[in-house]
Amino acid sequence: MKTDRHVLVAATDVELLAAVGRAIHGLNNISVEIARADGGGGLWSKAARAAAVIVEVDGRSNGATTLVRRLSGSARDGGLIVAARDADGESVRALFRAGATDVLTGPFTPDIVQASLSEMLQDELESAEAEGRVISVIKGSGGAGATTFALNLAALLAKGDEKRHRPARSAAVLDLDLQFGDTDLALDLLPRATVIDVLQAGDRVDPRFLEGVMTEHPSGLKLLAPPPTIVPLDALNANFAVDLVEHASRGFQRTIVDLPAAWTDWTFPVLSRSDLVVMIAAPTVAGAVGARRMIEGLKAAGVQTPVFLVLNRLHGLVEAFDKPSRIGRNLAMGVDAALRFDAAAPKAADRGQLVVEAFAGAQLSKDLRACAAKLEGRLEALSAGAAFAELAA
Ligand SMILES: Nc1ncnc2c1ncn2[C@@H]1O[C@H](COP(=O)(O)OP(=O)(O)OP(=O)(O)O)[C@@H](O)[C@H]1O
Ligand SMILES: [Mg+2]
Repeated sequence: MKTDRHVLVAATDVELLAAVGRAIHGLNNISVEIARADGGGGLWSKAARAAAVIVEVDGRSNGATTLVRRLSGSARDGGLIVAARDADGESVRALFRAGATDVLTGPFTPDIVQASLSEMLQDELESAEAEGRVISVIKGSGGAGATTFALNLAALLAKGDEKRHRPARSAAVLDLDLQFGDTDLALDLLPRATVIDVLQAGDRVDPRFLEGVMTEHPSGLKLLAPPPTIVPLDALNANFAVDLVEHASRGFQRTIVDLPAAWTDWTFPVLSRSDLVVMIAAPTVAGAVGARRMIEGLKAAGVQTPVFLVLNRLHGLVEAFDKPSRIGRNLAMGVDAALRFDAAAPKAADRGQLVVEAFAGAQLSKDLRACAAKLEGRLEALSAGAAFAELAA
């Protein structure tokens, strides 16, 4: 994730801070840094690094225009929003003359702040959109449901969700399960090219090449298919695997990576490059032990990517209610989503269909839709920056 797309906020007004928090929450891939409004604490150099600056001034004080003049010299071109709660017409004009790109007077609402920021950050937001998000899916043991999750998630993201105001995203699935990958079967596709073609192309692989060897599914998702035969896991190496993920993130808004059950030399680099690691575990003692092992493995390898924990195959409502909190307590982390056991899953897989498409009304499909919405929310919250998550709540 890039770190230079941040907004510097030099303010103490509680209404303004809350409005910025909510406004940022609605913008993708923008984080926030809070600074003192009096010019201290390295304000000028911080302003120079920020994509936009929001500064609070007392519009009636003489010092306001001086501060704005200095800041407009430091801030990037056209990136200075001045919040002056009680400024009258004349003060507002003076602030514009001093170099403000926009002047906001009270009351400070999220809509007003967001409109001002969106205009200012248009280029930043467009380039943020151009760089997609990578979600890697791992499991504690084979058969946990990682592939089912990866494919259904990709199809849901590709479709979007009008009811939940979630836009459709271009979605890719990279099946890097080089030995037992079965996504092509699960989707009933006959790929003309697979990951083997990517391995053979070596340095020639770029985002366009990658897209060219992917197979489109009617849901809209595009699949980098697994090899037709067993390939040694070290056919991939860390640099190549990370480059591959990077290329996919340029071409698609969401890239979902299905990884082998065994961890390889390139597993940690791929997980580190991801924006989110989805961990699939069974709601059993063995599942919890496997999840703990994965959490410890990530920690030991220094992977800092946030984890989204999904329990799969819960039996009935009572278990769905009770087990996630027990397992979460045991692992000292929250369970982010629970998927119920549902015979629709293998039935759909046997037909080469996605459960969310073949059995849209099934319990598992409902759980998957809720989970997709939560995961998208998590991606947005991550980019909005932790500093404002609480204010925005
Ligand atoms: N919630 C569920 N309820 C019932 N069956 C499920 C559920 N989720 C997955 N399954 C079934 O479990 C089997 C294994 O699922 P899947 O292939 O997704 O797991 P995996 O973690 O990718 O396994 P592998 O280690 O083989 O890659 C499939 O038959 C699938 O249909
Ligand atoms: Mg699998």
